[in-house]
Amino acid sequence: MSNKQTFELDRDSELRFEVEDKNGTVKLVLEQGMAEVFGSELVPRKEYVFTYGAKIAVFTWHGCVVHLYGKPDVAYIAKDTPMSIYLNTHAGLEQLRIEAEKKDRRGPVVLIVGQVDTGKSTVAKILINYAVRVGRRPVFVDLDVGQGHLAVPGMMTAVLVERPVTPEDGFSEKAPLVYSFGHKSPSDNMAMYNILVTRLGQAVRERLRLNKKANHSGVIINTCGWVKAAGYRSITHVAMAFEVDLIIVLDNEKLYNELAKDVPEFVWVVFQPKSAGVVDRTQTTRAENRERRIRSYFYGPKKELYPHTFEVKFSEMKVYKIGAPSLPDSCMPLGMKCEDSQTRIVPVQPGPSLLHRILALSSASSIDDDLIRQNVHGFITVTDVSLERECLTVLSPQPRPLPPNPLILTEIEFMDSV
Ligand SMILES: Nc1ncnc2c1ncn2[C@@H]1O[C@H](COP(=O)(O)OP(=O)(O)OP(=O)(O)O)[C@@H](O)[C@H]1O
Ligand SMILES: [Mg+2]
Repeated sequence: MSNKQTFELDRDSELRFEVEDKNGTVKLVLEQGMAEVFGSELVPRKEYVFTYGAKIAVFTWHGCVVHLYGKPDVAYIAKDTPMSIYLNTHAGLEQLRIEAEKKDRRGPVVLIVGQVDTGKSTVAKILINYAVRVGRRPVFVDLDVGQGHLAVPGMMTAVLVERPVTPEDGFSEKAPLVYSFGHKSPSDNMAMYNILVTRLGQAVRERLRLNKKANHSGVIINTCGWVKAAGYRSITHVAMAFEVDLIIVLDNEKLYNELAKDVPEFVWVVFQPKSAGVVDRTQTTRAENRERRIRSYFYGPKKELYPHTFEVKFSEMKVYKIGAPSLPDSCMPLGMKCEDSQTRIVPVQPGPSLLHRILALSSASSIDDDLIRQNVHGFITVTDVSLERECLTVLSPQPRPLPPNPLILTEIEFMDSV
C-alpha cells in the first residue's frame, strides 16, 4: 500500500488525524501495543478505514506503534490530553454502578453539556465505551437534534448500548427508540422539544424498570451546544426530566457556575476541560455530516443496504406537521398561547412542498392516538412528486406498501443523488 506513515506513540499520548479528501480514505493499523479510538479498543493488525470528514484520535495508555495508509489531511502526535480525567470520571461512575447493583437501584444518570465543538459527543462515546468494556449496558440518550448519532438528524433518541461504539461507523445499535422533533435546533420549537424531553425521560425510565442490568448501568445523555437563554433552561429541564445525578460541563466556567447554583443540591455538577484535539466544524461541515447520517440510514454506513423506491398516491397517505406558524400571544384566539400553536397538529396536503423532505412514520395509529408523544418507526424521503398522477415517489428502507400510520413532516431535507 502506498503513502504509509508510521507513528510511535509514548504512553498517555494520541495520534490525531483528519480525512479531508472527499473521495479519499485513510487506513489505520495498530502494529504494536494497545490503543483506542474514543474509548473503543483497536484490534491489533486489523485495518480500520476512515472516510471523508473523519476526525480521529488514537490514544494509548502504555505506548504503541500505528501505521496510517493514504493521505490524512493532518496527522500529529499530541501528549497533552484530558483522557485521564475522563477515565477518572468513568471510575467514579463505576463506583456508583457497583453501589446501584448492591442496592438494586438505578445507576448514575449523566448529562453532558457545553457549547458547540467542545467534544460532548466524543466524551459521551468514551464513557459509553468504557462502561460497555467492563460489561455494563448503559442507555445512551441523544438529544442533539442538529448532529444526532442515531437515526437521522432532527430526532431525539435512546438506545441500550451492548457493543462498543465502533471507531469507523459510530453507534451500530439497531432499533433505537426515536421521537420525531423535526428541526435542526431546539429553538425552532421549544415547546415541542421540552415535551419530547419529558416523554423520552419517561420512556427511558420505563425501559430501565424492565432491564436490571441497564438500570444498574445508568444513562449517558448527549446534548447540543445551545447553552444560553432558552437553551440553558432546556438543560435544566433535561436534568429534571431524566432525574440526572451528574452534569459534566465541558470547557465553560460560566455555564458550570450557573448550573451549580440552579440545580438541586443532590445533582453533582463537574467542570471538565475540552481536548485540544476537538475540531471546530463549519456550517458546511455540519450540513455534510447531516447528509451523511441520512444517507447512512437509507444505504447503510458501508452502502450495504438497498432501500426501496416506489410510488404512493396522495390519497393513500396522511401527512401532518407539528406546529402552526406562531403568532404573538396578543394575536391568538382568546385563551390560547404561543406554545399552543407550537404543538398544534396541522394536516398537510401531499404535493410539491414535500419534495426532498424526510417524513417520519409514527407508531400512532391515528392523530387521536397522542401523535406528538408517540415514537416513530422509521423514515422515508420524497424523491419525486407528480401532480398529474397525484402521487409521490418515495425512498424507503422497507418495501411497499407504506403502513397506514400517520406521517410526520420534518424540516430535514435529503437529496438522494448517489
Ligand atoms: N482528541 C481529538 N482528536 C481529534 N479529533 C477529535 C478529538 N476529540 C474530538 N475530535 C473530533 O472533533 C469533532 C468535534 O467533536 P464532538 O463531535 O465530540 O464535539 P461536540 O461538542 O459534540 O460538537 P457539537 O456541538 O457539534 O455536537 C468530531 O469530529 C470529533 O471526532
Ligand atoms: Mg455533539
